This record gives sequence, structure tokens and C-alpha cells, in this order.
Amino acid sequence: MIKAAIVGGTGYTGVELIRLLSAHPKVSLELLTSRSEAGVRADSIFPSLRGISDIVFSDLGEDTLSKLQACDVVFFATPHGVAMKQAEALTQAGVKVIDLAADFRLQSLSDFEQWYQQPHACPELLKSAVYGLPEVSRESIAKALVVGNPGCYPTTAILGLKPIIEVQNEQSERLISERIIIDAKSGVSGAGRQAKLSLNFAEASDNFSAYGVVGHRHLPEIEQGIEQLLNSQFEHKVRFLPHLVPMIRGMFSSIHLELTEAGTKVDWQQRFEDSYQNEAFIDVLPKGAFPDTRSVRASNRLRIAVHQDNAQADLTILVVQDNLVKGAAGQAVQNMNVMFGMDETLGLNFAPIVP
Ligand SMILES: NC(=O)c1ccc[n+]([C@@H]2O[C@H](COP(=O)([O-])OP(=O)(O)OC[C@H]3O[C@@H](n4cnc5c(N)ncnc54)[C@H](OP(=O)(O)O)[C@@H]3O)[C@@H](O)[C@H]2O)c1
Repeated sequence: MIKAAIVGGTGYTGVELIRLLSAHPKVSLELLTSRSEAGVRADSIFPSLRGISDIVFSDLGEDTLSKLQACDVVFFATPHGVAMKQAEALTQAGVKVIDLAADFRLQSLSDFEQWYQQPHACPELLKSAVYGLPEVSRESIAKALVVGNPGCYPTTAILGLKPIIEVQNEQSERLISERIIIDAKSGVSGAGRQAKLSLNFAEASDNFSAYGVVGHRHLPEIEQGIEQLLNSQFEHKVRFLPHLVPMIRGMFSSIHLELTEAGTKVDWQQRFEDSYQNEAFIDVLPKGAFPDTRSVRASNRLRIAVHQDNAQADLTILVVQDNLVKGAAGQAVQNMNVMFGMDETLGLNFAPIVP
């Protein structure tokens, strides 16, 4: 069995990891940390875990490091800035690290320091860390000691654009114009479990608001995804517009693109189907279908629909996922499966919850 630990088990991605790892046939959850709930059983905070896990929260004190070092993999479900302080000591002990925060996502040190306004604690380790999007970088993830689990919005954006950038590179000609518009919506669990005025029931329910329209930290991650991960031969300018919608789980990203003359000649529906035909978690919907967030709820699936309009000149890609699963904890477990050479779908192959 793989011995796993979760740092930050009282948050929403933390409890989602407990749910997924408890059902994983090859994992034993050995350690769960919380600074605020140390000594308390996890199922007393989250009754959904009663009968599923009897684990107790441990403090993240000094002696915790040696306990983490005794594990095979440590998931950090914490805010940015936490994993990078422990990652070096863990990897030196041969422990694999999967950070759900942003410490290992941006490969450029200066980008990290500019966007997160703090020095990186382990710049050398950052160089060897891998951005954990298995559908793009499976081989590198398999060899990685440290994986930066992608942000939720970037997962939808990069996977929604992947087939397009691939075909464009293959044909070595512009098939979409420079501008990429990503109009995205997230349920409120995307902001985590801590109390915030904008997330109060009376503020967030029966409401629909934009935020981070300029300067959202997922923008450089999406740009990095297009330039480095997908190796785009052409420059693109991304306009990213996130919104908060009154639901708990779920993310819906609409990607708007203008096709060039050459781009109108491509059968995009077919190209998306071809690109993802072997991917267990990516579902390209039939032509004309519309995705909804309910169709992926509590699952690791991401569904994509391809639409064309205006004499085929406008291409719109609609992408849905559960922000806590494929957008966070599920993808982290998928990365763990790849890192340990296991079947990528192990512990993740369950149907979404409806209604
Ligand atoms: N929510 C999403 O949909 C989503 C999607 C993708 C990625 N992420 C990323 O995943 C990470 C966790 O997100 P979340 O939504 O689960 O957040 P959350 O609900 O706010 O939980 C944060 C957890 O981190 C712990 N924590 C906070 N500060 C800490 C510190 N300085 N040292 C150690 N532990 C600390 C907290 O527990 P204690 O205070 O009890 O220690 C809590 O368990 C974030 O980086 C977030 O950006 C979230």
C-alpha cells in the first residue's frame, strides 16, 4: 500500500482528498494535518466521513516532518507558500509531493515571485517540478518527485485549447486569431472553506458576480500552458474573465475563438474526438450538445462541447468540470496514480452524482 499524508485536511480540497483516498484500493491514509483541529477526529468535523475514515487531525508541528517523511506521498491542500517550505526535506527523504496550491505551477521563478509576491523557498526544486496535467505531460509526471497540481480554471482552459493548438502546430499555420477569450464561472467552493463576506449565503446566493477580471493569478498559468505545455508555435493574447455563480461545486468555461480562413476548413468536432479518444476522464460531447456542471458533479470527468457559428468563423469551446475533483483533488489522485506507475483511473472511476 502507498502511505499517504494530507497537509491541510480541514479545507474543501482536503476533505475531498480524504473521500477519494479512503476509497482508493492501493492507498492508506496515514496522516492528516490541521493547525486548528489537531486531536479532533475528521469525521466529527465532516460527518460525511463517519464509517469511512476514523483518522484524527495531527498538528503541523516540528515533529510532523519526520512523520511526513515516513510516507510515500504528501498532498498539500493548503494555501500557496506552505508546500515549498517542506518540499525539499520531503523529497530528500524520497517522499513524492503533490501541491494543490501554486508553489510549483509557474515554472519561471520571476513569474512566481511577481504573481505571488514572495520569494520562492526552493528555486532549485521548482526547476525539476512538473505541472500536473496528465493529459498533456503524463511521461514527465511519471518521473516527477514534485508535482504542481494545476489550478481549476487553467485545467479547463488548457484542456479546452489543447486539440486546437495541436492542429495549429501540426499545420504550421494560424487557424485561430491571436485573441483567446475565456469566460469562466465557478461555484463558491472554489474559494475554499474559510469565512469571507463575499461568500456569505446572503451575498453569494441569488447572485452572479465577476471578480479578478484584471490580474487573476490563473492568467499566467493559462498563458504558460499555451506557450510551454502545448508548445504553441504562434503567439496568443488571453483575456480571462472569472465569475462566481451561486452553486457549490462546478466550473463552466466558455472559450471564444475566431477562426482564420484556414481554420474554417478543419473539422473541429472530429479533431477534438480524435485528440481525446484514449483519455478516460475527457468526454467530447456529440455535435450540438451542451454540457452542464451537474453532469460532472463529484467526478473526475471533464466534458467538452465544440460549437461553430457565423458561417463557421466563430469557434466556441464549452468545458465543464467539478472544481474540487478534476479541478483539484481528483486530478491530484490521478497524478499520484501516474507517479506510482498505477492505472491512472484507480480510485477515480465512478459516475457523477445526479441530481
Ligand atoms: N477549492 C478549489 O476548488 C480549489 C481548486 C484548485 C486548487 N485549489 C487550491 O488548493 C489549496 C487548498 O484549497 P481549499 O479550497 O481546500 O482551501 P481551504 O478550504 O481554505 O483549506 C485550506 C487548508 O489549509 C490549512 N492551512 C491554512 N493555512 C495553513 C498554513 N499556513 N500551514 C498549514 N496549513 C494551513 C487549513 O487548515 P488549518 O487552518 O486547520 O491548519 C485548511 O485545512 C489552495 O491553494 C487552493 O488555491 C483549490
